[in-house]
Amino acid sequence: MSKRYTITAALPYTNGPIHIGHLAGVYVPADIYARYQRLQGRDVAFICGSDEHGVPITIKAKKEGVSPQDIVDKYHAIIKQSFKDFGISFDNYSRTSAKIHHETASEFFKTLYDKDEFVEEVTEQFYDVDANQFLADRFIVGTCPKCGHEESYGDQCEACGTSHNATDLINPKSAITGATPTLKKTKHWFLPLDKHESFLKQWILTDHKKDWKPNVYGQCKSWIDDGLRPRAVTRDLNWGIPVPIEGAEGKVLYVWFDAPIGYISATKEWAEREGKDWKTYWKQKDSKLLHFIGKDNIVFHCIIFPAMLKAEGSYILPENVPANEFLNLEGNKLSTSKNWAVWLHEYLQDFPDKQDVLRYVLTANAPESKDNDFTWKDFQARNNNELVAVFGNFINRVVVLTNKYFEGKVPSPNQLMSVDIETLAKLKAFPGVISSSIERYRFREASQELINLARLGNKYLADEEPWKVIKLDEDRVKTVMFVALQIASALAVLGEPFLPFSSRKLKDILKMGDNSDHTWDRISQGLELVRAPHVIGVPELLFSKIEDQEIQIQLDKLQERKNKNTAEAKQLDPQKEAISYEDFSKLDIRVGTILSAEKMPKTKKLLVLKVDTGIDVRTVVSGISESYSPTEVVGKRVTILVNLAPRTLRGVESQGMILMTEDTNGNLVFVSPENSEKGVNGLKIS
Ligand code: 2FM
Ligand code: ZN
Repeated sequence: MSKRYTITAALPYTNGPIHIGHLAGVYVPADIYARYQRLQGRDVAFICGSDEHGVPITIKAKKEGVSPQDIVDKYHAIIKQSFKDFGISFDNYSRTSAKIHHETASEFFKTLYDKDEFVEEVTEQFYDVDANQFLADRFIVGTCPKCGHEESYGDQCEACGTSHNATDLINPKSAITGATPTLKKTKHWFLPLDKHESFLKQWILTDHKKDWKPNVYGQCKSWIDDGLRPRAVTRDLNWGIPVPIEGAEGKVLYVWFDAPIGYISATKEWAEREGKDWKTYWKQKDSKLLHFIGKDNIVFHCIIFPAMLKAEGSYILPENVPANEFLNLEGNKLSTSKNWAVWLHEYLQDFPDKQDVLRYVLTANAPESKDNDFTWKDFQARNNNELVAVFGNFINRVVVLTNKYFEGKVPSPNQLMSVDIETLAKLKAFPGVISSSIERYRFREASQELINLARLGNKYLADEEPWKVIKLDEDRVKTVMFVALQIASALAVLGEPFLPFSSRKLKDILKMGDNSDHTWDRISQGLELVRAPHVIGVPELLFSKIEDQEIQIQLDKLQERKNKNTAEAKQLDPQKEAISYEDFSKLDIRVGTILSAEKMPKTKKLLVLKVDTGIDVRTVVSGISESYSPTEVVGKRVTILVNLAPRTLRGVESQGMILMTEDTNGNLVFVSPENSEKGVNGLKIS
């Protein structure tokens, strides 16, 4: 088993603070993993930093009327503080504006350039004449060619995760002026992913078929099956790392080229500070490289970055990329722009000493294999029913009783009965069980095992009833409290990766100090952690109950934001330019009936409908699958625009458009033809 781990967590964009989705998807699991490996005595470099280039930063700066540097300085500080507040134990949190990063990324590019690993090509790129600039990445939005999502960015669709070239978008529009862009010739450098296809196929689809998570493997497979194409790694932008070769003036490295190299520069910065050699963490074959990311980053970490590392030639490749799915909030997608989030700095204002509660709830309900929902009710229930009623209650009983019966002294056990032997045997198994879950990136499962250990302790006390036995047999109570104290101290040791603040507090209550003998190994060998004449401290609450009214405050806060968004959406939908009656009369809108509906394979939003329009039966591809299931829509009478020019979506020709609108709650609803003459298809609306 490897003794050295290079653990990276996705570099967050510094265009806003971070929220629970970031914590649940990436940083808490990465932190649990890093803390766990350190506790096993492994040499860990846990690396992260701010991703300070790229279009999102420039857009935010434009919006706020400040410079991109102002934006990254502001959010770098806020994000770094949030990580510290939540105990994310990075060995280094760097930033991509650091000199060392500019040097490392430039050098990396130069090496690939000198090795002839790029294809240089003049191509036509989108250009906004009014804004007088090329439209790279998020400066352009349009319909995703893969899933039909209408607000896909130029480089990536957030709905289906596909990464594409901007010129692949259907209906592209400038995100700066809203105008339809023109095309203009410009020279760029491309990483020929096609050249690395056979290697990537073997490496991912064969070598890692079994050990990568199904969601990660599935996305990579679909990408590879679609055929890999060259990807531009330079951009016509003025914010980023200048392309370090002649003839590339005014161009910068694509943010997704420089950002993952940020892991390397952050390791260098740390190694320099610590007197270590960064190369052992990136170039030595027995080091294990792991990338913790969210699912929208899969292709960059599993395909593009490995292809870059392989092309460079001297680096190790990631052993695993345990990407998580997304977390939703109270049933809706987390969104920075809609302020639909629980921001970490705000959470701490309302729950100043409850960092571990959030860490725990986000782990217990982590979106490991599918998107998951965070609700404040669940947060309250997990705190009150698990942390308080199980974990905290057990610790409190142990500490109170040890103080009451033995003045805080750990008693020596007497004759062990079979229940004691069984309980101690069960305790011994926990480090192995929790380790096995963590090693397989099943952090939810691991967190539940920790609670099961506290349950074991509670059951043991409830069955042995030391509070009754004390009157008859003090010697027996000595044994019971000895066993219970072993469970309590094991909870402090095994809980450290999950609940670092509470683990520290519990160690202080039990006066365990920072004893290097208190290892997971020791627990699995059945050796005691505390024994006579050790004296523990006095009771202190480890977790406290969260009341209904505290939760109501959070729910009200969200409701307020929802109301504000709805009001703004109404205002923000300005009337489009006036059109003539002649233009309107060109629309042929009729009433039709949906005869059949099927989900379009591999898409989230699209349904393929057969609609009886009265004049014929035609196929319509409609983006309503997230709001309606196929069975719900069959038989529905709908309003359909029949003379819209046909468009092919994922190989299916769509011959019309079903008219939809939103109700007052923002739900997608059919424009109902029910007021028109009932039962008549093909009725023309005029
Ligand atoms: O999705 C994001 O927030 C990106 N900033 C992640 C970058 S990860 C890495 F490669 F740097
Ligand atoms: Zn898409």
